[in-house]
Amino acid sequence: MARTAPGAGGSASGPPTKCTTPGFDVITTGNHIWAQQDVEAALADDRLRVLRPLNFPPGLPGRGTVTVTVHGVPVTVVSLMGRVFMAPLDNPFTVIDRHLETMRGGGDPRPIVVVDFHAEATSEKVAMGWHLAGRVSAVVGTHTHVPTADARVLPGATGFVTDLGMVGPRDSVIGSAVAPSLARFVTGRSHRLPVADGIVSFNAVIVELDRLRGTCISIRRLDRDDTLTA
Ligand SMILES: [Fe+2]
Repeated sequence: MARTAPGAGGSASGPPTKCTTPGFDVITTGNHIWAQQDVEAALADDRLRVLRPLNFPPGLPGRGTVTVTVHGVPVTVVSLMGRVFMAPLDNPFTVIDRHLETMRGGGDPRPIVVVDFHAEATSEKVAMGWHLAGRVSAVVGTHTHVPTADARVLPGATGFVTDLGMVGPRDSVIGSAVAPSLARFVTGRSHRLPVADGIVSFNAVIVELDRLRGTCISIRRLDRDDTLTA
């Protein structure tokens, strides 16, 4: 799993249709989903498999979960958003409870469930890991763009990391160019924040799962810095 988050907006810049290259099974998003160009078309396009957080109010376009088949194995991905220092959405803890209950109450045979928890507060993400330990295959935090060093398998065989990090410019302020970001902090005046250039950090985790039980065997970080070539 890798999160492409090069811009100050916190999600892939430009229309998600640019992300349809082979290799993407699902694209999760977060708090900036509605600011993206052509977002409704992207959310409605089944081929793209772009998710918006499940705990947005009912009636909004798109979906918060999808099941894809990877090497013949069904994998359910759920997108959830936190509420600490973020918009006051529906409670992600009870929303995922209800969702799992609905899935499994109906005798759903798909054991592999991966949750992307897009949240600001470390405490809320760690709490979600414990909340879902033993109930899903992996919980991966996103949003801060800064990778955390705590990838581990929680009791109950659930893979967890507080924050995946990003795929975005390394020499930046969480993706944005340094000078205008600094100016904003120093002066208190808002500035446009373009995406920074230069070396790109690639942050990801590799999660090994038991395809029959849906349990996590191992989770490890894969972090690289590299230059992008056209
Ligand atoms: Fe975000």
